[in-house]
Amino acid sequence: MATLNVLITGAARRVGKILAEAVAEAGGNVALHYGRSREAAEQTAAALRARGATVALLQADLNNPAEAAALVERAWQALGSLNALVNSAAIFENLDWQSTDLPAWERHLRINLTAPFLLSQAFARRLLAEPEAEGRIVNILDWRALRPGADHLPYTISKAGLVALTQSLAVAFAPRITVNGIALGAVLPPSDGQPAPKVLHATPISRWAQPEEVGATLRFLLTGPAYITGEIIHLDGGRHLT
Ligand SMILES: NC(=O)c1ccc[n+]([C@@H]2O[C@H](COP(=O)([O-])OP(=O)(O)OC[C@H]3O[C@@H](n4cnc5c(N)ncnc54)[C@H](OP(=O)(O)O)[C@@H]3O)[C@@H](O)[C@H]2O)c1
Repeated sequence: MATLNVLITGAARRVGKILAEAVAEAGGNVALHYGRSREAAEQTAAALRARGATVALLQADLNNPAEAAALVERAWQALGSLNALVNSAAIFENLDWQSTDLPAWERHLRINLTAPFLLSQAFARRLLAEPEAEGRIVNILDWRALRPGADHLPYTISKAGLVALTQSLAVAFAPRITVNGIALGAVLPPSDGQPAPKVLHATPISRWAQPEEVGATLRFLLTGPAYITGEIIHLDGGRHLT
Protein backbone atom coordinates (compact mmCIF):
# COMPACT_ATOMS: atom_id res chain seq x y z
CA MET A 1 0.00 0.00 0.00
CA ALA A 2 1.19 3.56 -0.75
CA THR A 3 2.45 5.70 2.15
CA LEU A 4 -0.41 7.42 3.94
CA ASN A 5 -0.43 11.13 3.20
CA VAL A 6 -3.27 12.58 5.24
CA LEU A 7 -4.76 16.04 5.53
CA ILE A 8 -6.27 16.42 9.01
CA THR A 9 -8.25 19.54 9.88
CA GLY A 10 -8.01 20.98 13.38
CA ALA A 11 -5.01 18.79 14.16
CA ALA A 12 -3.01 21.09 16.44
CA ARG A 13 -4.56 19.99 19.71
CA ARG A 14 -7.01 17.71 21.56
CA VAL A 15 -8.81 15.13 19.38
CA GLY A 16 -7.22 16.32 16.14
CA LYS A 17 -3.78 15.89 17.66
CA ILE A 18 -4.65 12.33 18.73
CA LEU A 19 -5.69 11.61 15.12
CA ALA A 20 -2.45 13.08 13.75
CA GLU A 21 -0.41 10.96 16.19
CA ALA A 22 -2.31 7.88 14.99
CA VAL A 23 -1.30 8.60 11.39
CA ALA A 24 2.35 9.05 12.39
CA GLU A 25 2.12 5.79 14.35
CA ALA A 26 1.02 4.07 11.12
CA GLY A 27 4.09 5.46 9.31
CA GLY A 28 2.10 8.17 7.53
CA ASN A 29 2.72 11.83 6.79
CA VAL A 30 0.45 14.66 7.88
CA ALA A 31 -0.75 17.89 6.35
CA LEU A 32 -1.56 19.42 9.72
CA HIS A 33 -4.24 22.07 9.44
CA TYR A 34 -4.87 24.54 12.25
CA GLY A 35 -6.97 27.65 12.69
CA ARG A 36 -5.84 29.79 15.61
CA SER A 37 -3.60 27.38 17.55
CA ARG A 38 -0.31 28.10 15.85
CA GLU A 39 1.91 27.39 18.84
CA ALA A 40 0.16 24.08 19.59
CA ALA A 41 0.37 23.20 15.87
CA GLU A 42 4.13 23.73 15.89
CA GLN A 43 4.51 21.60 19.02
CA THR A 44 2.38 18.81 17.55
CA ALA A 45 4.34 18.97 14.29
CA ALA A 46 7.63 18.63 16.20
CA ALA A 47 6.28 15.57 18.05
CA LEU A 48 5.16 13.94 14.79
CA ARG A 49 8.48 14.66 13.08
CA ALA A 50 10.28 13.07 16.02
CA ARG A 51 8.33 9.89 15.16
CA GLY A 52 9.58 10.04 11.57
CA ALA A 53 6.59 11.69 9.88
CA THR A 54 6.83 14.39 7.26
CA VAL A 55 4.59 17.23 8.42
CA ALA A 56 3.29 20.28 6.56
CA LEU A 57 1.69 23.00 8.67
CA LEU A 58 -1.26 24.74 7.03
CA GLN A 59 -3.30 27.57 8.54
CA ALA A 60 -6.83 28.28 7.30
CA ASP A 61 -10.03 29.72 8.74
CA LEU A 62 -12.70 27.13 7.90
CA ASN A 63 -15.37 29.73 8.59
CA ASN A 64 -14.27 31.12 5.22
CA PRO A 65 -15.45 28.80 2.40
CA ALA A 66 -12.75 30.06 0.01
CA GLU A 67 -10.02 29.11 2.48
CA ALA A 68 -11.64 25.69 3.04
CA ALA A 69 -11.88 25.04 -0.70
CA ALA A 70 -8.21 25.93 -1.25
CA LEU A 71 -6.79 23.78 1.54
CA VAL A 72 -6.62 20.44 -0.28
CA GLU A 73 -4.48 21.83 -3.11
CA ARG A 74 -2.11 23.44 -0.60
CA ALA A 75 -1.81 20.14 1.27
CA TRP A 76 -1.31 18.21 -1.97
CA GLN A 77 1.52 20.54 -2.99
CA ALA A 78 3.11 20.44 0.46
CA LEU A 79 3.19 16.62 0.75
CA GLY A 80 3.56 15.83 -2.96
CA SER A 81 0.21 13.97 -2.98
CA LEU A 82 -2.64 13.03 -0.65
CA ASN A 83 -4.55 9.79 -0.23
CA ALA A 84 -6.68 10.61 2.78
CA LEU A 85 -8.66 13.44 4.33
CA VAL A 86 -9.83 13.57 7.94
CA ASN A 87 -12.41 16.24 8.77
CA SER A 88 -12.07 16.85 12.51
CA ALA A 89 -12.19 20.65 12.99
CA ALA A 90 -15.51 21.79 14.43
CA ILE A 91 -17.12 24.23 16.80
CA PHE A 92 -19.33 23.10 19.68
CA GLU A 93 -21.33 25.89 21.27
CA ASN A 94 -23.76 25.36 24.12
CA LEU A 95 -26.88 26.74 22.41
CA ASP A 96 -30.52 25.61 22.49
CA TRP A 97 -33.39 26.65 20.21
CA GLN A 98 -33.89 29.88 22.19
CA SER A 99 -30.29 31.04 22.34
CA THR A 100 -29.37 30.11 18.75
CA ASP A 101 -29.26 33.22 16.59
CA LEU A 102 -28.74 33.30 12.83
CA PRO A 103 -24.97 34.01 12.96
CA ALA A 104 -24.41 31.06 15.34
CA TRP A 105 -26.55 28.78 13.16
CA GLU A 106 -24.66 29.76 10.01
CA ARG A 107 -21.26 29.58 11.73
CA HIS A 108 -21.87 25.97 12.81
CA LEU A 109 -23.04 24.95 9.36
CA ARG A 110 -20.11 26.67 7.62
CA ILE A 111 -17.36 25.24 9.83
CA ASN A 112 -18.84 21.82 10.68
CA LEU A 113 -20.60 20.92 7.41
CA THR A 114 -19.81 23.25 4.49
CA ALA A 115 -16.05 23.08 5.05
CA PRO A 116 -15.98 19.23 5.11
CA PHE A 117 -18.05 19.25 1.90
CA LEU A 118 -15.73 21.70 0.12
CA LEU A 119 -12.67 19.78 1.32
CA SER A 120 -14.17 16.45 0.20
CA GLN A 121 -15.13 17.89 -3.18
CA ALA A 122 -11.64 19.29 -3.74
CA PHE A 123 -10.05 16.04 -2.55
CA ALA A 124 -12.18 13.91 -4.89
CA ARG A 125 -11.60 16.20 -7.88
CA ARG A 126 -7.84 16.12 -7.35
CA LEU A 127 -7.55 12.42 -6.56
CA LEU A 128 -9.86 11.16 -9.32
CA ALA A 129 -7.81 13.13 -11.85
CA GLU A 130 -4.86 10.82 -11.03
CA PRO A 131 -5.19 7.54 -12.95
CA GLU A 132 -6.05 4.64 -10.61
CA ALA A 133 -5.38 6.58 -7.37
CA GLU A 134 -7.49 5.49 -4.39
CA GLY A 135 -8.37 7.49 -1.32
CA ARG A 136 -10.17 7.57 2.00
CA ILE A 137 -12.18 10.21 3.78
CA VAL A 138 -12.99 9.98 7.50
CA ASN A 139 -15.43 12.44 9.07
CA ILE A 140 -15.31 12.96 12.82
CA LEU A 141 -18.88 12.87 14.08
CA ASP A 142 -20.60 12.78 17.44
CA TRP A 143 -23.07 10.29 18.95
CA ARG A 144 -25.50 13.25 19.07
CA ALA A 145 -25.58 13.30 15.26
CA LEU A 146 -27.56 10.05 15.16
CA ARG A 147 -29.55 10.67 18.34
CA PRO A 148 -30.34 14.38 18.31
CA GLY A 149 -31.60 16.05 21.47
CA ALA A 150 -32.41 19.60 22.46
CA ASP A 151 -28.92 20.61 23.58
CA HIS A 152 -26.13 22.02 21.36
CA LEU A 153 -28.74 22.47 18.64
CA PRO A 154 -26.78 24.00 15.71
CA TYR A 155 -23.81 21.72 16.47
CA THR A 156 -26.03 18.62 16.47
CA ILE A 157 -27.75 19.58 13.24
CA SER A 158 -24.42 20.29 11.54
CA LYS A 159 -23.11 16.86 12.60
CA ALA A 160 -26.35 15.15 11.51
CA GLY A 161 -25.82 16.79 8.13
CA LEU A 162 -22.27 15.45 8.13
CA VAL A 163 -23.63 11.92 8.65
CA ALA A 164 -25.84 12.37 5.58
CA LEU A 165 -22.88 13.82 3.66
CA THR A 166 -20.75 10.80 4.67
CA GLN A 167 -23.33 8.42 3.25
CA SER A 168 -24.07 10.46 0.09
CA LEU A 169 -20.41 10.88 -0.78
CA ALA A 170 -19.71 7.19 -0.06
CA VAL A 171 -22.03 6.46 -2.96
CA ALA A 172 -20.88 9.36 -5.12
CA PHE A 173 -17.14 8.70 -4.74
CA ALA A 174 -17.26 4.88 -5.05
CA PRO A 175 -15.38 2.84 -6.03
CA ARG A 176 -12.10 4.76 -5.67
CA ILE A 177 -12.70 6.78 -2.51
CA THR A 178 -14.28 5.40 0.66
CA VAL A 179 -16.09 7.77 3.01
CA ASN A 180 -16.69 6.75 6.63
CA GLY A 181 -17.30 8.38 9.98
CA ILE A 182 -16.33 7.97 13.63
CA ALA A 183 -19.08 9.07 16.02
CA LEU A 184 -17.25 10.01 19.19
CA GLY A 185 -18.58 10.23 22.72
CA ALA A 186 -16.55 11.13 25.78
CA VAL A 187 -13.00 11.36 24.48
CA LEU A 188 -11.89 14.53 26.28
CA PRO A 189 -13.81 16.78 28.68
CA PRO A 190 -15.90 19.14 26.54
CA SER A 191 -14.29 22.39 25.46
CA ASP A 192 -17.52 24.25 26.37
CA GLY A 193 -17.11 23.69 30.11
CA GLN A 194 -19.90 21.10 30.49
CA PRO A 195 -19.33 19.25 33.81
CA ALA A 196 -17.37 16.03 33.25
CA PRO A 197 -19.25 13.88 35.85
CA LYS A 198 -22.54 14.46 33.96
CA VAL A 199 -20.94 13.16 30.75
CA LEU A 200 -19.53 10.02 32.40
CA HIS A 201 -22.78 9.29 34.25
CA ALA A 202 -24.54 8.97 30.85
CA THR A 203 -21.80 6.75 29.38
CA PRO A 204 -22.32 2.98 30.00
CA ILE A 205 -18.57 2.29 29.84
CA SER A 206 -18.10 4.97 32.46
CA ARG A 207 -14.73 6.41 31.53
CA TRP A 208 -13.17 8.64 28.89
CA ALA A 209 -11.92 6.97 25.71
CA GLN A 210 -8.23 6.26 25.63
CA PRO A 211 -6.32 8.11 22.89
CA GLU A 212 -5.09 4.76 21.58
CA GLU A 213 -8.72 3.67 21.06
CA VAL A 214 -9.38 6.74 18.95
CA GLY A 215 -6.14 6.21 17.01
CA ALA A 216 -6.82 2.52 16.39
CA THR A 217 -10.28 3.29 14.99
CA LEU A 218 -8.89 5.91 12.64
CA ARG A 219 -6.11 3.59 11.47
CA PHE A 220 -8.70 0.86 10.83
CA LEU A 221 -10.68 3.18 8.55
CA LEU A 222 -7.54 4.51 6.82
CA THR A 223 -5.74 1.22 6.29
CA GLY A 224 -8.36 -1.53 6.83
CA PRO A 225 -10.79 -3.08 4.35
CA ALA A 226 -11.53 -0.80 1.39
CA TYR A 227 -14.90 -2.55 1.08
CA ILE A 228 -16.22 -0.56 4.07
CA THR A 229 -17.82 2.70 2.98
CA GLY A 230 -20.65 4.86 4.27
CA GLU A 231 -20.14 3.33 7.72
CA ILE A 232 -20.41 5.22 11.00
CA ILE A 233 -18.48 3.61 13.84
CA HIS A 234 -19.54 4.73 17.32
CA LEU A 235 -16.60 5.18 19.67
CA ASP A 236 -18.60 6.52 22.59
CA GLY A 237 -18.63 3.91 25.35
CA GLY A 238 -22.26 3.16 24.45
CA ARG A 239 -23.43 6.76 25.01
CA HIS A 240 -25.76 6.70 21.99
CA LEU A 241 -27.71 3.82 23.52
CA THR A 242 -28.74 5.52 26.78
N1 LIG B 1 -13.85 15.93 22.70
C1 LIG B 1 -14.76 14.95 22.61
O1 LIG B 1 -14.89 14.13 23.53
C2 LIG B 1 -15.61 14.82 21.38
C3 LIG B 1 -16.84 14.16 21.48
C4 LIG B 1 -17.64 14.04 20.35
C5 LIG B 1 -17.20 14.53 19.13
N2 LIG B 1 -16.00 15.17 19.06
C6 LIG B 1 -15.58 15.70 17.75
O2 LIG B 1 -14.18 15.58 17.61
C7 LIG B 1 -13.66 16.70 16.88
C8 LIG B 1 -12.62 17.44 17.71
O3 LIG B 1 -13.16 17.69 18.98
P1 LIG B 1 -12.34 18.52 20.10
O4 LIG B 1 -13.01 18.26 21.39
O5 LIG B 1 -10.89 18.26 19.96
O6 LIG B 1 -12.71 20.00 19.63
P2 LIG B 1 -12.14 21.41 20.16
O7 LIG B 1 -11.28 21.23 21.36
O8 LIG B 1 -13.32 22.31 20.27
O9 LIG B 1 -11.20 21.86 18.95
C9 LIG B 1 -11.78 22.28 17.79
C10 LIG B 1 -10.78 22.18 16.67
O10 LIG B 1 -11.40 22.71 15.50
C11 LIG B 1 -10.59 23.73 14.95
N3 LIG B 1 -11.44 24.82 14.47
C12 LIG B 1 -12.57 25.31 15.04
N4 LIG B 1 -13.03 26.37 14.32
C13 LIG B 1 -12.18 26.54 13.28
C14 LIG B 1 -12.10 27.47 12.20
N5 LIG B 1 -12.99 28.45 12.05
N6 LIG B 1 -11.08 27.34 11.33
C15 LIG B 1 -10.15 26.38 11.48
N7 LIG B 1 -10.16 25.47 12.48
C16 LIG B 1 -11.17 25.55 13.38
C17 LIG B 1 -9.70 24.22 16.07
O11 LIG B 1 -8.47 24.68 15.52
P3 LIG B 1 -7.59 25.87 16.22
O12 LIG B 1 -7.52 25.56 17.69
O13 LIG B 1 -6.29 25.76 15.53
O14 LIG B 1 -8.31 27.16 15.91
C18 LIG B 1 -9.52 22.96 16.92
O15 LIG B 1 -8.42 22.20 16.45
C19 LIG B 1 -14.87 17.57 16.55
O16 LIG B 1 -15.33 17.26 15.25
C20 LIG B 1 -15.90 17.17 17.58
O17 LIG B 1 -17.22 17.38 17.13
C21 LIG B 1 -15.20 15.35 20.16
